[in-house]
Amino acid sequence: MSSTPRHPLPHAPAPEMNAQRRRLLGGLGAALGVAGGGLGLSWATPALAATGVAWQSWGTGALPIDTRNLRTDSARVFDLSVSSADPSLTGVILWTHITPGAWRAGEALYLQVALDAQFQTLLLQAVVGAEDVAQLQAQRDGTERIDLDGQLPATLAGGPYFYRFIYDGTVSRTGRCRTLSSAGSALKQLKLGLLTCQDYTNGYYGALAHLARDESIDFVLHLGDFIYETAGDPRFQSLPFADRAFTLPSGGVVAMNLADYRALYHRYRSDANLQAAMERHTFICVPDDHETANDCYWDYARDTLGAPDHPYTTDPAYGNSAALLKQLKLDSQRAWSEYVPARVTHNPLATHPHEALKIWRRFQFGSFLDLFMIENRSWRSAHACGEAQWGGRYLPATSCTAYTASSQTLLGATQLNWLREGLTQSTAQWKLMGNQTLFSRLAITFAGAQVAPINIDAWDGFQAERQALTSALKEAKVRNFVVATGDLHTYIASQLRHNFGNVNNLDVANQIGVEFMTPAVTSSNLGEMLGAKLTPAQRTLLMQGLAAPAVKTLNPHIQYFNSNQQGYSTLEFTTNWVEWTAYAVDKAISDPAVARTCVARQRKFVDWPWMVAQSTQGL
Ligand SMILES: [Fe+2]
Repeated sequence: MSSTPRHPLPHAPAPEMNAQRRRLLGGLGAALGVAGGGLGLSWATPALAATGVAWQSWGTGALPIDTRNLRTDSARVFDLSVSSADPSLTGVILWTHITPGAWRAGEALYLQVALDAQFQTLLLQAVVGAEDVAQLQAQRDGTERIDLDGQLPATLAGGPYFYRFIYDGTVSRTGRCRTLSSAGSALKQLKLGLLTCQDYTNGYYGALAHLARDESIDFVLHLGDFIYETAGDPRFQSLPFADRAFTLPSGGVVAMNLADYRALYHRYRSDANLQAAMERHTFICVPDDHETANDCYWDYARDTLGAPDHPYTTDPAYGNSAALLKQLKLDSQRAWSEYVPARVTHNPLATHPHEALKIWRRFQFGSFLDLFMIENRSWRSAHACGEAQWGGRYLPATSCTAYTASSQTLLGATQLNWLREGLTQSTAQWKLMGNQTLFSRLAITFAGAQVAPINIDAWDGFQAERQALTSALKEAKVRNFVVATGDLHTYIASQLRHNFGNVNNLDVANQIGVEFMTPAVTSSNLGEMLGAKLTPAQRTLLMQGLAAPAVKTLNPHIQYFNSNQQGYSTLEFTTNWVEWTAYAVDKAISDPAVARTCVARQRKFVDWPWMVAQSTQGL
């Protein structure tokens, strides 16, 4: 992928707009420069490793370095480029990484944010002192996370803004970021890119190249599996992409410690297409299981991580050690907080994962849309029917129905209460839940009744909690509830029902909302896993001819089901409708100019309970 061409810098504003903005921002910039005395002269974050990076505002005056002849071989210093995350009304988190070989004692890091890609209209400059840069190299693996909340003007449009870092005479690539719009009820449109499951070893990120080029996207939601904890695991990573293979520091194929997780993030974030997507869009990320270990959960009985397929559990040499598993969770949390920017507080000194990191959070797009990003893996209880794959986690034995028990929790009580209160009290037109595992029922059924769920690693394994949530939504008459989901390496569009056994589509009170599952970027889908011995054509036939109709017949709330391709999707909200548009991009093609095909488009009109399939022609 090293020959992949970079994308051009973002468009500069039109000249007349530029002049207008410059006048406007002349005032704003000056105001921020003055305000910098209050905003920036004290260290922003004293707890360095906990919340990010201590930095000082430099106003908009000349930096104490020569910026006329900066080196532009940015990867020499900023090997993982730049990215932005977690918009607020007046800020965003900016991220970069200084490669260890480029670190020099006594060298400070500078940041510039401007209204234009040429940095003519500076909004603010910041400096991270040389001593702090040195500490970040030691404590955060060289990752820098600067939270600008409170520093940018609250504007109707929420940007875009442009930013770059400068270190040791070298300038980074230019990133583009957005803040939340201050338009409130005047906001009439929002378009989100949706991503999940980007197994680096399992293909190329052409989908991310397309996403990077899509100028219509406002923000990107990453719903988990940003990394996989494995590198070349023959169970599901046996596809022939030799140039995507790599070795973990510990020498095995599964992450065992902090160094392994850091190496995984470093490798993933070295990808040119992922870098382009993260340079061009502001991301909002939550982890799923593979940021730690496959199908992981919290083992309340032993007060440690449950990781049924991890060597610490399965290899007798490690004795299923509770201490090793707890440390593994802590290591994965730490690496995530270093390499995936988010406005969350990570405490690296915590010895219990529940005290180290809280990930769920809310983003309010005025009165137009409330986004609740939830986290499925840190508080969920063990799989209800045991940890065996078949007969346990997937398609449990019919003798076990413990997945309906009220003791099964996916979110934990605190997160569930936060979510329930937030959703039922929200006055926004749209309520969006950023979710990991499938919320809808996916089961073998008879006459509408559930015979056996197919995957109780998802919400089907926590049916009482799901019902508690949908009961609250039903009671509060919450309308326009939308769930965006990842995890299953499948495209799904589904009606959400309070009682999935009630197949009467006209029972409007039973309709809770809609769910859209975005496909994997590269990870093996069900077609590949079930049809490993078939040719691609046979596999397509199997999945299209058998799986989708069977799934839809047994689960009539599912309107679209496709587990035969990879790609990404978008979710566009207007005051009249929400529309999910799903694309397929061939993961076997390394050229970022790879073709993109629209495979599904579903629209739900506001206050109307059902979704309607739309044409995919010409998209
Ligand atoms: Fe995945």
